[in-house]
Amino acid sequence: MKTVTTLEDLRRARAALPDPLGLVPTMGFLHEGHLSLVRRARADCASVGVSIFVNPTQFGPQEDLDSYPRDLERDLALLRDEGVDLVWTPTPEIMYPPGFQTWVTVEELTRPLEGARRPGHFRGVTTVVAKLLNAFQPQQAYFGQKDAQQAIVIRRMVRDLNFPLQVVVCPIVREPDGLAMSSRNAYLNPEERRAATVLHRALTAAEQAFRAGTREAEALRRIMSQVLAEEPLARPQYVSAADPETLEELQGPVERALLSMAVYVGETRLIDNVVVGDRG
Ligand code: PAJ
Repeated sequence: MKTVTTLEDLRRARAALPDPLGLVPTMGFLHEGHLSLVRRARADCASVGVSIFVNPTQFGPQEDLDSYPRDLERDLALLRDEGVDLVWTPTPEIMYPPGFQTWVTVEELTRPLEGARRPGHFRGVTTVVAKLLNAFQPQQAYFGQKDAQQAIVIRRMVRDLNFPLQVVVCPIVREPDGLAMSSRNAYLNPEERRAATVLHRALTAAEQAFRAGTREAEALRRIMSQVLAEEPLARPQYVSAADPETLEELQGPVERALLSMAVYVGETRLIDNVVVGDRG
């Protein structure tokens, strides 16, 4: 496994790798969710690249950029064990050279949900992912359903800008008690860690109600809110039943829905989701 930092070294190492190359973009502090993407890329592709970059432009001024967990040595050991070929760990100066003023923005899809609560977040995500795709020139790029809106926004960007690659979205990997794996789970104290299972319980309750015939979007949101309200440490920021393609909030009876939420547990902001209904 080769680990590089400069763009020149990245380009040289990339050129020596066989196609198709699968790219897994990450912000590091890797867990089984990230590794599931790496394994899928390893199974699909002749070579696998991973980027580790805590992207400052996708964090708001009040967010956790400075405290975001980092452990590069551990990350590299995990990636080596997965048979990754190339890891890029660029510096902020490489990604954002002095005078930087060029951004990639996806419009409508970034307005609701996470976009509404994290102004500028998706502009940072799409810009850095566009730069990673330019640098690696992968044939496949792997993202997690954990960040459902991010995956949809990136798919849109790849189509709109004619990037010659396929976007692959992989299922959410969970802890045994249902908590979706996240680097931010490291912020939770033991009491909060127990409380954090409420997101999955709320989603599961709505999913079961949907299976049992509940179809009204309002009813699905109410079920999720009721379960969340039973956990005193949980402060919901939003609870949504949205169209899985357009991300518009649904009203009335629905055939399919992206059920999603952002919930503060203590100071830690957690997100989770499930898609109900036919996947078409
Ligand atoms: P990061 O949060 O490190 O996540 C990297 C990738 O792993 C994302 O595609 C994310 O959806 C996926 N992932 C995280 N937790 C997961 C889980 N429990 N199950 C399945 N997949 C999971 O998302 C980012 O970084 C950044 O926004 C990035 C795309 C790298 C751009 O900076």
